[in-house]
Amino acid sequence: MNILDGKKVSNDIKDEIAVQVSKMKERGEKVPHLAAVLVGNDGASLTYVGSKVRSCKKIGFESTLIHLPEETTEEELLAQVVSLNMNSDIDGYIVQLPLPKHIDEQKVLMAVDPDKDVDGFHPTNFGKMALDMDSFIPATPFGIMELLRRYNVDTEGKHTVVIGRSHIVGRPISILMSQKGKAANSTVTLTHSRTKDLTTFTKDADIVVSALGVPDFLKANMVKEGVVIIDVGITRVADETKAKGYYITGDVDFDEVSQKASYITPVPGGVGPMTIAMLLKNTLIARERHRAGN
Ligand code: GUN
Repeated sequence: MNILDGKKVSNDIKDEIAVQVSKMKERGEKVPHLAAVLVGNDGASLTYVGSKVRSCKKIGFESTLIHLPEETTEEELLAQVVSLNMNSDIDGYIVQLPLPKHIDEQKVLMAVDPDKDVDGFHPTNFGKMALDMDSFIPATPFGIMELLRRYNVDTEGKHTVVIGRSHIVGRPISILMSQKGKAANSTVTLTHSRTKDLTTFTKDADIVVSALGVPDFLKANMVKEGVVIIDVGITRVADETKAKGYYITGDVDFDEVSQKASYITPVPGGVGPMTIAMLLKNTLIARERHRAGN
């Protein structure tokens, strides 16, 4: 069993980006500037956004956190988005999801300038990605692809079973892994809550990408020997014995499934840190595009 060490690989990527930033500074160029908009005080979102902003600082990016109250109206948020679109100092920005219930998420994401959409959630970028065109690729699937590439995991002609059809992970990773290229060329099955007899699919899978959000859902008797496991689940489970009052766990029963897997991502320390590294990578790409005037 080999661990797909997202923490290590994400640090490698961040080091590579930091070198690029140093070169930009030496040339007297503007460094990449990422902004993050957070509405409300969801605990997990606060942690993620805090982590994104801290990572920016570490690698030499500029960063701006716009923390708005829970009661922010849709109009106010849309005005913030328009302001970020017009601010030429900002290379890329994200609106952290989920948004409070009274705000139409799609309306907000549609308002983001596709050239600054480093999350890759705007239909223009998502459509371009699906058509094999150059675009911003959503950070979590981008991170999974990069992890598979850097560990030279063989995906060609393999059966990849994705669990979950979210716009952020399941849907895009199913598209990316079926495309041509390294860590791709896979035969993909996209499963979801209405799939009948899920185990039939997971037992046949060479690669399982689980993005469900149900702790310890995937058990050893649901997969075959030698399977590659990508665990995208990050769930907080309440636990009074922990300093934070909770612990983080994935979709996969790691102790059981790791006995059968050829490669497996741990939680924490697998896909999570890769997401942040690839968001930074997208911001670097955005800066380079803006410098080149496109
Ligand atoms: N919420 C969970 N994952 C993400 C992400 O990758 N980007 C944004 N904006 N919100 C998220």
